[in-house]
Amino acid sequence: MVYQATASAPVNIACIKYWGKRDTKLILPTNSSLSVTLSQDHLRSTTTSRADPSFAKDRLWLNGKEEEIVAPGRLATCIAELKKLRKELVEDKDSSAPKLSTFPVHIASFNNFPTAAGLASSASGFAALVSSLAALYALPCSPSTLSLIARQGSGSACRSLFGGYVAWEQGVLDDGSDSLAVEVAPRSHWPEMHALICVVSDDKKGTSSTSGMQRTVQTSELLQHRIKHVVPKRMKEIEAAIKAKDFDAFAKVTMADSNQFHAVALDTEPPIFYMNDVSRSIIALIVEYNRVAIEKTGKRKAAYTYDAGPNAVIYTLQENVKEIVELIVKYFPQKDGFKDPFQLFAGGSVGEGRVVEGFNEAVAKKFEVGAVKGLIHTNVGDGPRVLGAEEALLGPDGLPK
Ligand code: DP6
Repeated sequence: MVYQATASAPVNIACIKYWGKRDTKLILPTNSSLSVTLSQDHLRSTTTSRADPSFAKDRLWLNGKEEEIVAPGRLATCIAELKKLRKELVEDKDSSAPKLSTFPVHIASFNNFPTAAGLASSASGFAALVSSLAALYALPCSPSTLSLIARQGSGSACRSLFGGYVAWEQGVLDDGSDSLAVEVAPRSHWPEMHALICVVSDDKKGTSSTSGMQRTVQTSELLQHRIKHVVPKRMKEIEAAIKAKDFDAFAKVTMADSNQFHAVALDTEPPIFYMNDVSRSIIALIVEYNRVAIEKTGKRKAAYTYDAGPNAVIYTLQENVKEIVELIVKYFPQKDGFKDPFQLFAGGSVGEGRVVEGFNEAVAKKFEVGAVKGLIHTNVGDGPRVLGAEEALLGPDGLPK
């Protein structure tokens, strides 16, 4: 009997940013956050877990390379928590259930996007790990319960346990049992939400989220203002915007919160800079694009947001993506064209790009090829998926294929 399961999980990009921990071991945040889950058709992590009494120890391979599982590190914690749930919720209740919690596991995980793209892989990675072990162990747990475990792998991972629009409620309890992800709205509520990821060239190794946010907690007074007076109000505003499908309000809050996250990074001692000239030029283009839209209709049509790196994520409704791709390509020429998964250009090419009528072209300069090294067009997507045996990443010998 082979005890094995494979699952995939999505990337999520926050509109209200998580930045700061009140407990670094349990990964409890200093504020709530909210994200949009992106489609696994384009970006995903896939993980296969197998439990076997003949294995010598727990082992994990990430993109084919073995990673050490060191207790009490994040990986070891997640695996131990899931084994504990297997024992308590399955084996202790049904004496005929195989004692999988006592078997070592082999875990193979694969991201279908290059780590070099600078896209956060820890969120989808830990969500896929938790989902595959939960499937292997047949845990009768809700996504929110599983999010409590994914959170201990990487904070933002807890939000990848749901599709659609997801809040991570910070919680108040010391044991973290109320610091979990909840669905604000499913994907089907507002399926028109699309995202264009601008992969910005970045040679230097930046400050990791984990160490950067701790420095901010220790040194930034602005962060205290953000936690107490800004985020609680913004969480309410963005939830209302999502429920009402009010893109203008969604965009306003999303951009303001990205700006404030980068402001608290700058307010850190020593200061942290995640955005570069390319990032700032993309902001200028979106601000001008929105100015034109507001002049015509009174409403914003796009929202930029940046995580702990220079890549831009532009949220917009489906009907505007083509215009935005043309705008970005005009200022950031693409060597390899634009991979067009939604057939915006109906088999043709984006060409040289262009701006919408009334756009002030002087707001940014035209960059060289390679400044934006790729554009990924995706949309709001569903939560983790349990996959069939044909998708397994472990071979018959229990090692990565
Ligand atoms: C800027 O979840 O990567 O992307 O909990 O230390 O693993 P750890 O940090 P991580 O931080 C993500 C920070 C962010 C904002 C967000 O995703 O909310």
